[in-house]
This record gives sequence, C-alpha cells and structure tokens, in this order.
Amino acid sequence: MMEPVTAPVGKSTAREYGEAIIEIAHLHKSFGENHVLNDFNLTVRRGENVVVLGKSGCGKSVLIKCIVGLLKYEEGSLKVFGKEINQLKQKELDEMRARIGFVFQSSALYDSMTVRENLEFSLRRHGKGKSKQEILQLVEEMLENVGLANAINLMPSELSGGMRKRIGLARSLILKPELMLYDEPTTGLDPITAEEISNLMLAMQQKYNTSSIIISHDMHCARLTANRLAVMIDGINYAEGTFEELSKITDPKVHAFFKNDKL
Ligand SMILES: Nc1ncnc2c1ncn2[C@@H]1O[C@H](COP(=O)(O)OP(=O)(O)OP(=O)(O)O)[C@@H](O)[C@H]1O
Ligand SMILES: [Mg+2]
Repeated sequence: MMEPVTAPVGKSTAREYGEAIIEIAHLHKSFGENHVLNDFNLTVRRGENVVVLGKSGCGKSVLIKCIVGLLKYEEGSLKVFGKEINQLKQKELDEMRARIGFVFQSSALYDSMTVRENLEFSLRRHGKGKSKQEILQLVEEMLENVGLANAINLMPSELSGGMRKRIGLARSLILKPELMLYDEPTTGLDPITAEEISNLMLAMQQKYNTSSIIISHDMHCARLTANRLAVMIDGINYAEGTFEELSKITDPKVHAFFKNDKL
C-alpha cells in the first residue's frame, strides 16, 4: 500500500475550531478478509464541517456506522464527545446518539405522518419535556430555517425529492444536535436543489455551531460545505486538507476527485 502523500495537509486550519468532537486513531474494521478500515485516522472539531470523499464501496458508510456504535471495530480508538464508542453501554450509547443528527441518503420520513407530525415525533421520542406550544414553535422555527413553513400540514407523498431532503434536515436539526452525520445528502437532486441543500447545511452549521461529517460524491457540495476534506483510499485517510489544498495535489488518486472541479 502507498503511504499517504499529504496526510494531514490541513493541520493548521484545525486550530480555528473548538475541542475535538470526533477523534479516530488507527481504526481497523474488517468483515472477514475484507479489511475496510485499515489504520484510519480523522479528527473533527466543534463547529467544523469535514467532508469525506471516497469511491463507492470504500467504507464511508461503515465509518459512519462505527461512529454511532452500529458496528464494532476491532482495533484502534474512536472517541465521540471524548468517550470510546466500543466501551459504551447501551444507555450511554443512547445518550450519545441523542446528541447526534443523521441525514440519510433517502430522507426516511414517516409516510403516514404529516410534516408537522414527523418533526414533533423526533422531539417527543427524545423526551425533552416540552409543552405543546413550545413544540409547535420549534417545528415552525425549523421549517422556516429550511424555507418550508408552508409545508407544515403536507404529507411526505405531496413533497418533491428536494423538499423531502429539507424536511429530513429540519427533523434532524430540531433536536439541536452537536454533531451531524450526512450520508450523501445531495445525491439524486438536480444541481440547483443540491446547491440549496448545501447552502442550508452551511447556514445551520453557522447558526448552531454544529460539527459535521459529510459523505459526498458531489464535489460542488463538498466545495461549498467543507472546512476540510479527507480522501479515503484503501481504508486509510489518504489525503487531508482544504478544498484548495487538495485540488492542487498531483497524485493521481487524489487528483481523480478534483479534475473536473478546479477552483
Ligand atoms: N454489515 C456488513 N457485512 C459485511 N460487509 C459489509 C457490511 N457493511 C459493509 N460491508 C462491506 O464494507 C465495504 C464498504 O461498504 P460501505 O457501505 O461503507 O461503502 P461506501 O463507501 O459507503 O460506498 P457507497 O459510496 O456506495 O455508499 C464494502 O465492501 C461492503 O461490502
Ligand atoms: Mg455509503
């Protein structure tokens, strides 16, 4: 295996951000002989958006699943909010997950509930002990954030793909998560809607000082949302830096991601 060419290029940029929210060191995750994560390293700080790039099947979703404790890793360390994930008991894991928002590739709304009910459901399930009025206010605030205040009484089937993504985003953000995990948030959207969603992700980061890991094949989304990027190749963090830094790298494996998207 080739040594990382640059890792980590962007160390200097990390200083502007807060404490480490995710710390991944020498992480190994295999399925039998398939060594998906093979000494993977990455740190994400408070208020920082990190985009993870990588070919299909390289292990990006596996990484996200390890972060939220859905998959156990064999070796190395993975700390979220300072706690080693593999060592958490179920209750501690649930507490940690309540501080994390997910946006899946499919927006995964509940089809039998209105937009309002979908958003309320998130709040109720995490038992925040809010009054009906407070809950409605939060729902309205979040819908306004994503520009869909008028959709409050619609059913998911009445929404377009882009609207569903926005509602999915609103539903995750309503819990004011400290950490957001986006698995291909703009896949399947037209370029204009994809840009709107990317701008929304950026606006939410700035408004709530959320940290994010964004998995994306969409280089336009990556350029808009990333404070830093990591390129995952052969199970390692092969190259890391700002969009500008990485786009100048001539190593063909890294260049492949950037060749159609020069600054
Ligand atoms: N539960 C599992 N059991 C066995 N193998 C798995 C499991 N989950 C993932 N894998 C394997 O791990 C590798 C990485 O899968 P992963 O879903 O993380 O890819 P990805 O980078 O997210 O790809 P894509 O961009 O297509 O979503 C693949 O080889 C996959 O077959
Ligand atoms: Mg995936």
